[in-house]
Amino acid sequence: MITGTSTAQAIATGVSDELGEPLVDLEDDGTAVTGDGVTVEDDDRIVVVGSTTTARAHLELMELQERANAFEPAEVVTVIPYLGYARQDKLFEPGQAISARAVARAINASTDRVYSVNPHNISVLEYFDVPSAPIDAAPQLAEPLPADLADPVFLGPDEDAEWLANSVRDTYGDGHVENFEKIRHSATEVEMTAEGKDFSGSDVVLVDDMIATGGTMSEAVNILDNQDTGRVYVTCIHPLLVENALSRLHRAGVQSLYATDTIDRSISQVSAAKPIADALAE
Ligand code: R5P
Repeated sequence: MITGTSTAQAIATGVSDELGEPLVDLEDDGTAVTGDGVTVEDDDRIVVVGSTTTARAHLELMELQERANAFEPAEVVTVIPYLGYARQDKLFEPGQAISARAVARAINASTDRVYSVNPHNISVLEYFDVPSAPIDAAPQLAEPLPADLADPVFLGPDEDAEWLANSVRDTYGDGHVENFEKIRHSATEVEMTAEGKDFSGSDVVLVDDMIATGGTMSEAVNILDNQDTGRVYVTCIHPLLVENALSRLHRAGVQSLYATDTIDRSISQVSAAKPIADALAE
């Protein structure tokens, strides 16, 4: 059975539909499961789904894990569509905390297994003591693309995003993969270079793991504006969209923007439920 935190309602519903397993609410008193008279048997698995977009969302996930364990099922599996703090995965400055390790330790405590959809860096999974695995939702980003893209280029705004662009291209079935170079000066300032890269005449699909402030994608779109490209699609797995990210992208001239539902936002046009269900069914 599947249960979701408030940050993962749509995707938990999608996973339940894909697997044909009931979607349940676990009651606070640890004795009842709402829904169509569903009860937890000893050999049941409870899948807890929660995106940890905020500190409150982390706590909510841990509370739901606790509740799931109170039913003493055969297994509690935790699915994290969006794993927060994953970008703080090492010491960038002396004295900082490795936040990704801290949250992994906390999530570990009440689960038998963890899945994370496109964590910022796959090495973050090493911080979990329980078995853990990544899930790739990038192929879903090919779904909304029109079949008639002209000489399509699947473009990562930096080198790290190139494999995601590759994953979307493979699913689309046509086109080539490129990336820009990116230097980050601060949390909000990025410098991008595109020396020798001209995509005039091509439709371009920009692919990244997440859009946070929108700085990276705005910069990439600015570069493309100076080329004679065709249609430009801006896509990502995790639409964190902090502060004024949407208006920033709009000001940069972005017209076609979509993401998956690992974070439930207005642009969450495609669902990561299928790859999650496939991983859970293995
Ligand atoms: C960085 O390495 C990530 O892959 C994204 O490019 C970045 O997190 C996007 O953040 P923002 O939207 O704030 O530029």
